[in-house]
Formats: sequence, structure tokens, C-alpha cells
Amino acid sequence: MRKKVTDGVSWVGKIDWEIQTAHGKEYSTHKGTSYNAYLIEDEKTALVDTVWEPYADEFVANLQLEVDLDKIDYIICNHAEPDHSGALPALMKLIPDTPIYCTKQATTSLPGHYHQDWNFHPVSAGDTLNLGKNTLTFQPIPMVHWPDSMMTHLSGKNILFSNDAFGQHYAHELLFNDLADQCTLHEEAIKYFANILTPFSPIIKNRIMDFLATALPVELIATSHGILWRKNPEQVIEQYLQWCDAYQEDQITIIYDSMYNSTKVIAETIARGILQHSPATQVKLFHAAKADKNDILTEVFRSKAVLMGSPTFNKGPLSSMSALLEEFRGLKFMGKKASAFTSYGWSGEAAKEMLAQLVDAGFTTTDEGFRVHWRMDTEERAKALQFGVDFASATF
Ligand code: FEO
Repeated sequence: MRKKVTDGVSWVGKIDWEIQTAHGKEYSTHKGTSYNAYLIEDEKTALVDTVWEPYADEFVANLQLEVDLDKIDYIICNHAEPDHSGALPALMKLIPDTPIYCTKQATTSLPGHYHQDWNFHPVSAGDTLNLGKNTLTFQPIPMVHWPDSMMTHLSGKNILFSNDAFGQHYAHELLFNDLADQCTLHEEAIKYFANILTPFSPIIKNRIMDFLATALPVELIATSHGILWRKNPEQVIEQYLQWCDAYQEDQITIIYDSMYNSTKVIAETIARGILQHSPATQVKLFHAAKADKNDILTEVFRSKAVLMGSPTFNKGPLSSMSALLEEFRGLKFMGKKASAFTSYGWSGEAAKEMLAQLVDAGFTTTDEGFRVHWRMDTEERAKALQFGVDFASATF
């Protein structure tokens, strides 16, 4: 069933209420998601993107109810990742000669996925395609999210089909940001940026500046996931520019794992020390093996500083902590401080190991970490409290 975006532009995608993880098992989708595709009906008809492969047959069947497929003059493929291009094989079986407009990179990544030699029309920045009354202008945005990514602007309606940029994994039947829950929208948008786009932050900033330099007017941003930005679409552009720029809030996040609660008690004592020094700072604690990985990474993205705590186990941190530290390395957070702590019985290397991994991931460490032999006594509790005070002092 189509949903009206504006006169002559319809949403024809799939809302996925059922999905629990995206990117395989890598990204938790507590609020579902959508694969947004659009039909533009002018003197010519253009389809912008498709849906994920499991919904390909459903997508094509629904599209046939809305339009004679032979009347689709152009397909715009803004991104080759299968969550957007996955229905192309099913669609192209029915309309095999329809031209596909995409970036030069997509002319290799699409055949790489589907092993089909479709009628590709590679485009460059500023290339246009006239549909009749209105015109499409193409703006490649390599690495937002893949090398083949692109945005497409529709004149007259002033819609920016932004693909992955500005999206969220948020299933919502009413499509538009002014009809969505604002807290959920913000949480899902920042989680999406933190977990998917952070490594490309400097590039994203440049791509946004390149698009703003075109001076193409934007009245609506039609994303490929989640909510469309209809009310004040500039807000998400401004938000992205902030998120791209070593973003941080007044927050310190403490992440720990614990076997017999010794490390947990250290974490909570350090938290009290931080608050003693800086009462207004948001201090958040997460058990690495119990909390959702992607929610933790979102909180790290928000933070000025992080503390990593683990028992020493087999001469290092517990595996839950190692997995998060590997995520830190890949996500390339910028401008954040860090330290580590451990409870140990005989060797006690976990703090030192985590500090080294934090440095490798681009964090600035503030000290040599904090170690407790077995469990804290009264004297060590005072030292842990002071460690929290000193860490907050070094952070601000
Ligand atoms: Fe939503 Fe990069 O795909």
C-alpha cells in the first residue's frame, strides 16, 4: 500500500516491525525499522530504491498494485547495500531493460551482489534527470555509508532522498517526524549515527558541506530508514554536523563486568567519587554482559570519558569487555578520555590491557588505572572514591 508523501511522490517501502537485529546480529533494532522506497510520478515515473531481499516478492506485488511496472521509466539506486537494493533482482526480471541510475561505484557493487548486467547509468555530482515538471539532481556521498552511496534531490517538491543519511531504525506507520514520538526519534537517530556512521564522521561532515554548497532547497528529507524529516528538516542536518565534530555531552560512562561483585562495587564507588567532584555530570553504569551492546556504544558516543572495569581473568579482561573494546577500535570515537580498573587475585593485568586497547582505539588515558587485590576494604574504598574524584578532575 502506498503512502502519500506529497503530490506526485509516494512511499512504497516496507515497515519491518518484526526485525530484532540488523546487519546480521550486529545492531539491535528494539523499535523495528523500515526500508523506504519512493515512487515519483511526473511526466516520467521514477522509483527511488527498493527494500531488503526477504520482502522482495511482497514489494514487487505491492508495487504492481500501484503502478504498471512497464510505466516505470527510471530506477534510482542510491545505495547497493541489500537492505535497499535487495528487491532489484525480482523487479528487474519483470522490467529488465529499465535504466538504473546509480554511482559509478554501484555499477560494480550491484553486480558484485547480484551477478546481473543491468542497464546501468552511472552519474556524477550535479548530474540531472528531467522527469517533466521536476528534475532529479544526483549527489554522490561516498562512505555515507558505502563507497557507492548517493543522495538524490527532487526539484519543485524540494525533497532530498538521503538514503542512509539522517535515518533511524524506527518502525512507524505515520512516516513523518512531526507525527513521531520525539524522544524515541532522537534516541534511534543518535544510536544509528553512533553505531553505524561514527567511523565516517569527518567524511560525513564534508559530504554535508558539499551538499549545502549546491544551495538546493530542502523542504523534506526522505530517508531510507525510519522517519521522514518534514517539520524543520534542517534540524537533523545541524544535528549531524554536531555529531560529526567529536561530539560529547556532560556524561561519564562506566562499563564493567563482574564475577563476584568485587568489580561492580569498585564501579559504583568510583561513580560516587565522580559525582562528588562533579554533581551535575550524568554518570551511567552498564554491565557489559547484561546491557545491550549498541545501547552501550550510544552512551559512549555521548560521553566525555569512559571507565572500563573487569576482573582479571586468564591474564586479561573478561570477553564482554574485550568485545566492546574491539567495537571502540572500529568506531573511532574522537576526543574522549578513559581509564580502567580491575579486581584481581594473583596477576592483575586486566586494567593495563584495557588501557592499552583504549589508547589503540584513540582514547586519551588519564592515569595508570586502579587495581584492587581481591575485594576492597575500608581503606581501598576511600582510594576508589578518590580515583573517581581524580578521574572527573582530569576529565573536565
Ligand atoms: Fe541501510 Fe547502508 O544500508
